[in-house]
Amino acid sequence: MAANSPLRFRDTITFAELGPKSQFTPRRPSILWARIEQSPRSARLPLTNTRSSQPAKSQASRASLPEKIGKYMIINEVGRGSTGVVYLSHDPYYGRDVAIKVYNVDTSGDENRKRIARKMFLSEAHMVGMLQHPNILPIYDAGEENGHCYIVTEHVHGARTLAAYCRPDNLLRIDDVVELVYKAARALHYAHSRGVIHRDIKPSNIMLTLDSDVRIIDFGIALVADSEISRIEGIAGSPSYMSPEQVQSIELTNRSDLYSLGAVMYELLTGTRPFRAGNLQKLLHQIVFATPPPIHTLRPEIPEELENVTAMALQKDPEKRYKTGLDFAAELTRVHQKLRAQYNRIDQQEQFSLLRKLKFFHEFSHGEIWEVLRASSWQDYGDAEEIVKEGEMDDRFYIIVQGRVGVQRHGKALGYLESGDCFGETSYVRGAKRTATINASGSVTVMKVSSTLLEQVSAECQLRFNQVFLRSMIGRLQSAERSS
Ligand SMILES: Nc1ncnc2c1ncn2[C@@H]1O[C@H](COP(=O)(O)OP(=O)(O)OP(=O)(O)O)[C@@H](O)[C@H]1O
Ligand SMILES: [Mg+2]
Repeated sequence: MAANSPLRFRDTITFAELGPKSQFTPRRPSILWARIEQSPRSARLPLTNTRSSQPAKSQASRASLPEKIGKYMIINEVGRGSTGVVYLSHDPYYGRDVAIKVYNVDTSGDENRKRIARKMFLSEAHMVGMLQHPNILPIYDAGEENGHCYIVTEHVHGARTLAAYCRPDNLLRIDDVVELVYKAARALHYAHSRGVIHRDIKPSNIMLTLDSDVRIIDFGIALVADSEISRIEGIAGSPSYMSPEQVQSIELTNRSDLYSLGAVMYELLTGTRPFRAGNLQKLLHQIVFATPPPIHTLRPEIPEELENVTAMALQKDPEKRYKTGLDFAAELTRVHQKLRAQYNRIDQQEQFSLLRKLKFFHEFSHGEIWEVLRASSWQDYGDAEEIVKEGEMDDRFYIIVQGRVGVQRHGKALGYLESGDCFGETSYVRGAKRTATINASGSVTVMKVSSTLLEQVSAECQLRFNQVFLRSMIGRLQSAERSS
């Protein structure tokens, strides 16, 4: 252990005292688990898994798959990192799936050193096991088998880590990055206020669930199994996210984690780490003395406020950083609100540009298009999805923005409508039922205009809308008559 490890000052607990059963209060089945299974998926964050969450397929790993660890049945390997191997396992007592991380064995050092390291490991696992926060991966149990320490945690179905989103060709939307870092900052604040410093915040230690929620993993424990010195020497992991005080082995405080989170945010925003050097010595020198390239030089659309937040987190002097994770999170909230407003404006601008091109809106002034846009909502449909059902009542007009829909009456196909066409004429008559069923033919975007909301736009706009709508209905009727 490095001299600055907070574990040095903590009372160690003997293995017997820490007997897995007595000390680790198993939690109720996670609510998060239910959310992962049931909640709708995020619209923007991609949902693909990273390589490490796939079961390992190599012959070697299959051959070495243990049948059981402690009382847990091993199902398959879900990931392998610099400090250990993670297995999907089954807890027969609670009848739930769990993940078991088995740490690599440090073969160096004498028996006494190993014994102390084991105690520290279990003590640390116990401390982290006490944390209960939605964005911290819960630890259910810990133990040791055949000289390998292991922890038992929630199994995150289809997990991926933030490492997948650090590549310049796979960056997340800026507001998504802010939201993820905000959650991580709050989770760190929670842990810090309970005396736990993570000490190894990096993209691969922040996991995302299937619905893109954050789970911080590897709290402190990895560093017990593997000394910070060996990490710095490049044996396990990269020191790129370590704070200046950490690489100098000066005593660590909570603010070291906030620096590391700042480094993660920098990379998520730009696709590059704050410092890059040809060798370790140069890298450490840069972490202590250099200023990272300004973010806007790498991604110009990043707002100045967000650049300032990142720079503040990456201050060399811990005293100049955010005091707590909560302060960090509060600043991110302010940036997030501005970004959301900006994105809404961008989304609406895009919608406006699309509408202007549709024949339905050719006679509308810009102001009138904006009025209709505000009285509408947009919806995407997949192939064969039902948009309108014959016989139902509903007060909306529909305009096809993109794609094609099929029209059916009494189960008989009547034809297709294309982008720029409208339907929903029955909304002109209060209490009237839909006379046809409309299904998407391929993917379709429709704009739904509520007749109630339309009554609130200017009289000119209403008139224009009604004229165009009726004209296109009459045109459709005439062409139907011609073809019959
Ligand atoms: N609880 C879990 N549920 C599902 N998958 C997990 C879980 N914990 C870890 N994994 C998967 O296993 C991989 C390796 O795990 P982990 O990060 O703990 O290893 P590590 O030794 O700390 O490596 P690194 O240094 O890259 O962080 C992760 O990238 C993740 O995909
Ligand atoms: Mg890890």
